[in-house]
Amino acid sequence: PKTENQLLVIFGASGDLTARKLVPALYKLYKDDHLPEHFVVLGVARSFMTDEQFRNRVALESKYLDDSEAFIEAFSEKLFYEDLHKKYDVSYRELNERIQNLNTVYQCNNNFIFYLSTPPSLFEAIAKNLTAEGLNDERLGWKRLIVEKPFGYSLDTAKALNEGLHRYFKESQIYRIDHYLGKETVQNILVTRFANSVFEPLWNRDYIDHIEITNAESGGVESRGGYYDKSGALRDMFQSHLLQLVALIVMEPPLSADPEEIRNEKLKALKSLRMMTDPEVLERDTIRGQYLSSMIDGERVNGYREEEDVDPDSITETYAAVKFFVDNWRWADVPFYVRTAKRMPTKVTEVVIHFKSPHHQIFKNSNINKDNKLIIRIQPDEGILLKFGVKVPGQGFKVERGNLDFYYSGLGDSHIMEAYERLLLDAMQGDATLYARADEVEAAWRFTDPILNYWKSPKAKVYGYSAGVWGPEHANELIEGTHEWRNPGR
Ligand code: BG6
Repeated sequence: PKTENQLLVIFGASGDLTARKLVPALYKLYKDDHLPEHFVVLGVARSFMTDEQFRNRVALESKYLDDSEAFIEAFSEKLFYEDLHKKYDVSYRELNERIQNLNTVYQCNNNFIFYLSTPPSLFEAIAKNLTAEGLNDERLGWKRLIVEKPFGYSLDTAKALNEGLHRYFKESQIYRIDHYLGKETVQNILVTRFANSVFEPLWNRDYIDHIEITNAESGGVESRGGYYDKSGALRDMFQSHLLQLVALIVMEPPLSADPEEIRNEKLKALKSLRMMTDPEVLERDTIRGQYLSSMIDGERVNGYREEEDVDPDSITETYAAVKFFVDNWRWADVPFYVRTAKRMPTKVTEVVIHFKSPHHQIFKNSNINKDNKLIIRIQPDEGILLKFGVKVPGQGFKVERGNLDFYYSGLGDSHIMEAYERLLLDAMQGDATLYARADEVEAAWRFTDPILNYWKSPKAKVYGYSAGVWGPEHANELIEGTHEWRNPGR
C-alpha cells in the first residue's frame, strides 16, 4: 500500500511516550524508507519549547547513534513543535495556522493524523477544538485520530468517550491503539490458526483442556506511579492487551482477512466471555496482589506502596489473575487462566494451549504425565513451541517430552517491526485492522467492570507477594487441581 504525503500532529508531545516510543518508531520507519516523500511531525503540548528544544528533548536513543550525524539531522528536521499554553480558542487558532503553514511548505496534501498521547480526560476536548478549526473535514485530504490507551476507566467512561469522539469524528477516522496488536507474534496467532490445517481442527473443547496466558514484567511501576495507582493491573493490561489476546485465541475463523471481518469475529469472541457477577465466583476465581519490598540480587527494591506518587495505603493491584469460561459451542467448559503482574522473576508474555491427554494411555509405565502443549511466545524469544511425547531409545516404551521449536530470530535477517512502527505505518496507510473498534473496547470493559466493582468491596482481599516471585501463593489455588501455572524461566 502507498503511504501518502501527510502531517502527523502528536498531542502530549512533551510526555514520555513520544520520546521513548513514537519518535524512535518514526525514525526507524524513516531509516527503512517507509515514510512518504513529504512528511513532517508537529509535537504539541502545554509547555513552551522551540522546535530545536523539542528536537533535543526527543533526541534519539543511543542505539541509533551508529547512524551518521547528517542522517539523524535530516530526520530531526522533520520535527516541529507548537505549544498550547494560551486559552483554548487562541491556542487552537494558532495551532491551525501552524498546521496550515507546515502543510503548504512541506506539501502534506491536507492529510493529517492527530495522535492523542494525553490522558483520556482530554480526548473529547481536543477532538472538539480540532473540529472548531475545521480540522476533521476530509474534503481536501483525509483526517485521522489515533487515541492512546487507557480508553476510559470503566464501561461507562469508555462509552462516554466513544460518544464524545463520535460527535466530531467518524468511527472510520478513529484508531484506538492497543500496542499488543502491533506485535508480530500477536498477529501470528491469526496465521497459526487460519493458515494451517494442523492446529485449527484441534482448537476446541474436544481437544483442549485449558488455556493459560501469562504476562509478567520484572520491573515495578517505575516513574508512572501517579497513573498506575489510579489504574492497576486489571485496567492497565487485562482489559486491553490481554483480552485482545484472548479474543484472537477464542474467535471463530473470519470470512476473510478484511479488517471489519476480523474485528466482527473478535467482538463476538469478547461477547461470549461469561460475565462474572456472582460474588462467590468472583472471590474464588479472581486474585489480586501487590508487590512488597524485597531483596533482588542483593539490592532492596521498594514495595509498591513505597513507590513515588503511590498512596501509602493503596490497594491498587500490581498482580491480577482471573479464571473464566467462554460460553459458546467451541469453548464450553474450557477454563481460561489469565494473569498479569509487575515485579515477577522475569519479563515474559506467553499463551499456553494445554491439550487433553489421549483418550486411552497404552504406555502405562511411561513417565509421561504431561500433556501436549502449544506455547505461543509473544515475547521475548518470539516464536512457537510444541511439546509432545517421544520414545526414549532403548528397550520398552519410555516416553519423554520432545520439543518442536520455532524462533522468529531463525528467519534470518527479516526484521521484526516494533509494535509502534507497525501501528504508525498502518494508520498512515489507513489500515485499521490492528486497531480496536469502539464496540470491541466496550465489550472488553463490560467483562472487566464486575471484577473491578467486586474488588472495590471491603471483602475483597489484596495479597502481598515479594518482589521477584511468581505472585501471591494464593494464586495457585485458582488453578490448582490437575493444573499448575507454567512459570517460564529465561
Ligand atoms: C503498557 C502498560 O500498555 O504496556 C505498561 O501501560 C506495561 O504498564 C506495558 O509495562 C507492557 O508493554 P510491553 O510491550 O513491554 O509488554
